[in-house]
Amino acid sequence: MNRRTFLKTAAIGSIVTGISASVASAERYFPVKVDQSLFTDINRVKDPAKKTPLEKSHAPVILASASVKAGEPFTVEVSVGENLHGMGPSHWIEYIELAIGNEPAGRIDMQPKGYLKPKVTFVVVLPKEIAPSGKVTLVASQRCNLHGLWESSIDISVV
Ligand SMILES: [Fe+2]
Repeated sequence: MNRRTFLKTAAIGSIVTGISASVASAERYFPVKVDQSLFTDINRVKDPAKKTPLEKSHAPVILASASVKAGEPFTVEVSVGENLHGMGPSHWIEYIELAIGNEPAGRIDMQPKGYLKPKVTFVVVLPKEIAPSGKVTLVASQRCNLHGLWESSIDISVV
């Protein structure tokens, strides 16, 4: 083996070893296999009567009064999942957002330390002009680092 062949072989071997080490360390850090199909679109509950375990722990649950008065504050509570999602260093909820129809209203970012549980309360005031039909849609979304973006919505009356 001449010097040039030796150097080529050594360089290729180093690259392959480096890639293998990166993959191995990523699998150690993220022991749960990620379903890539969850990251291709916004995930929603498919059949509310038959929720899957993944839907039960990821679809945002929105609690708000069915009818609110325009111009007066009311609370909207958003929990991540019927079974509150866990918060840990390898699997956590990155943020929870609330939108009024298509209009973003706010967002809470979270860290994977486990200090915060994925349940937040927004205080909302809606002007009368926002609901000419008397109804408005509250849209909550959240992003899980391993299970993607999830969204739920409810309609409320504004009187
Ligand atoms: Fe998750």
